[in-house]
Amino acid sequence: MPSKPYVKLNAGDPDVEAPKYAIEAIQEAIKKGGDWTHYGGNEIPKQFREAVVDYYKKWIGPEYKESQVFPVAGSSAALYIALSSCLKEGDEIILWEPSYSNHYGMLRDMGIKMQIPELPREKKYHMDLDKLPSYVTKKTKAVLVCNPNNPTGSVYTKKEIEAVGDLAEEHDLTILSDEIYLHYVYDNNKFVAPSTIGNLKERTINIMSFSKTFSMTGWRLGYVIVPDRFIAKAQSMMRVAAPRPATFVYPAGVACLRGDFKYVEERRKEYSARRDYFTKAIDDMGMPCHKFEGAFYAWFDARKYDLKSDDFISKLEKAENVSLSSGSGFGTKQEGFIRVPMTAPIPVLKDVVERVKSFTSKL
Ligand SMILES: Cc1ncc(COP(=O)(O)O)c(C=O)c1O
Repeated sequence: MPSKPYVKLNAGDPDVEAPKYAIEAIQEAIKKGGDWTHYGGNEIPKQFREAVVDYYKKWIGPEYKESQVFPVAGSSAALYIALSSCLKEGDEIILWEPSYSNHYGMLRDMGIKMQIPELPREKKYHMDLDKLPSYVTKKTKAVLVCNPNNPTGSVYTKKEIEAVGDLAEEHDLTILSDEIYLHYVYDNNKFVAPSTIGNLKERTINIMSFSKTFSMTGWRLGYVIVPDRFIAKAQSMMRVAAPRPATFVYPAGVACLRGDFKYVEERRKEYSARRDYFTKAIDDMGMPCHKFEGAFYAWFDARKYDLKSDDFISKLEKAENVSLSSGSGFGTKQEGFIRVPMTAPIPVLKDVVERVKSFTSKL
């Protein structure tokens, strides 16, 4: 048995608590009881939807109506509403690789065929725009953009988002925009929402969550914003299939969205410092590590050890008691890659680097 303390860095779960004002809001709601601990009627979700509309206008730009916002228990549910609003079995969708494993899983389960362009490593995991049109078929109905991307942290440029938008307009596709990491963008990179470009707002569904921005993974709070023509479908999906947030969680969401975002800026700076330390340290060990532009995942190339990603992480865990995530879940061509969320302070990351060093020195 390894004697070192266990370090778990295999999920994108922030290492800090939610902002104090969110915790106070939920405590107060539970203390009040009544509507706040029951189904809650219409007024409580309405206040949340209004806060989402104001937040979007203030921080991102586009103006939505409250009726376009659907609060759900986490963005996985939001994604499900989004996909089932615009796609049916047999349709096709374009999404990139490497990308978030649950996107592929949910689409597979829904019987949607995926066309998957690669984000070339040599282009720092940005889109190969020349090849993009070749992925459209007669059955293509949507394109899913995860921006900033998990696991590569790519923050797509305006040119990339415009190219996706042009493709969507030419072939009448819906754009699904998973924006859950939008506040975690570093250096001079800028998040560009498709809904801020031309008329793309009319064909874009936004998927959002409090999990990462406010370190609220366990609170299960997210939402989806749909264009008018998908409202009826989203409403019926909500009735049958989508878990709603707990009533007493709504005021915490409102407090976050109407807050000053100092908490988020502090987290952003911290993730950036962790990134600078960790990506360089892994790179210096001879395993090329991508210096991500957004989100908070280090993504490194361990192929020189000729192990499958699953074997690398299970042997590492056995030898050094540290758990990382296998790259193979993020696409079919990601064997040999490893993902590490920057959800531990730098002293812990230093310890992880030493353990990885000790492990690889024996391979
Ligand atoms: C890109 C992306 N979308 C959605 C999710 C799911 O988040 P939630 O906790 O809101 O379900 C994750 C979680 O890691 C993610 O990385």
